[in-house]
Amino acid sequence: MNLAVSLPRGLKLKNPIIAASGTFGFGPEYASFVDMSVLGGISVKGLSPDPWPGNPPPRVWETPMGILNSIGLQNHGVEVFCQQDLPFLRETDTRVVANIIGHTVDEYRQVAARLSREPGIDALEVNISCPNIKEGGMSFGQNPDQAAQVMAAVRFETDLPVMVKISPNTTYPVEIAEAVEDAGADMISAINTLVGMAIDVKHRRPALGGVTGGLSGPAIKPIALRIVYEVAQTVKIPVVGMGGISSTMDVVEFLMAGAAAVMVGTITFQYPRRMQEIVAELPEVITELGFDCLQDVVGSALPGRSNASSMMEAEYE
Ligand SMILES: Cc1cc2nc3c(=O)[nH]c(=O)nc-3n(C[C@H](O)[C@H](O)[C@H](O)COP(=O)(O)O)c2cc1C
Repeated sequence: MNLAVSLPRGLKLKNPIIAASGTFGFGPEYASFVDMSVLGGISVKGLSPDPWPGNPPPRVWETPMGILNSIGLQNHGVEVFCQQDLPFLRETDTRVVANIIGHTVDEYRQVAARLSREPGIDALEVNISCPNIKEGGMSFGQNPDQAAQVMAAVRFETDLPVMVKISPNTTYPVEIAEAVEDAGADMISAINTLVGMAIDVKHRRPALGGVTGGLSGPAIKPIALRIVYEVAQTVKIPVVGMGGISSTMDVVEFLMAGAAAVMVGTITFQYPRRMQEIVAELPEVITELGFDCLQDVVGSALPGRSNASSMMEAEYE
């Protein structure tokens, strides 16, 4: 079965499985475990104009159904990325999504401008949803006007396909998605982590150095699915879904909820080869569910498409 996905501005993925930003480094970290060329794409760790030191340790705390992280978007800046990391990624036969971050609208603009001059970047993912920095980041993702300003500034600088990563830490993620669509976004990626915390009982203090952190992993999947389902019914642009995906059937759920492609994050820490396994299993799983092609799965659980699902149930009976 052909798993290829065509996205706006000529972005073609060989399959819908993309490594989620911040969980796959810049690629080489996983090279001895994963055949990168099997993946649809890699979204790299968030990039800022200058190096960011990140938050104090501890930065990761395990929870029963996921992890809390307060990395604080530590990265060595877009310039070092272009010199040091991009050459490896250029040689990798997969799509490279550069995740960008800023404290101000102008910082997002600067990173977009710098990356647009470099060959080997296939798309930008604008992170307006990181819960781990004090200014910028998630605050842009909670206000439709500010979110639109960031997107408009990035659009001004680039002809690359741009997806905007929205936050679950807002009452109205759909409004944010609509605002960035109007400002020129080509795709929505959803969702980033949810703000949470843990207490280190032994030391009687918050477990994370940053006090609060972002929750990811299987615990957040129902929330992610709900947001993808709502956003996919509202915007006309494709949605890239993520949040707690750990199996091929999870991917199918996101596709049915309206995601054109997905990103896989936290599970990679536990099972580095899981994305490869999902790519291998996907055709058979889709076929067993009664679909002829990947496209037919996308949105098949959305309202108005219920005939398709009842037909499937009928086939199973
Ligand atoms: C350790 C860690 C670092 C992350 N760093 C970034 C980042 O730099 N930029 C970003 O947009 N998302 C970042 N994320 C969020 C993930 O890309 C993803 O949206 C989230 O973890 C939900 O997917 P998952 O449950 O499959 O991990 C990070 C997540 C984790 C766990």
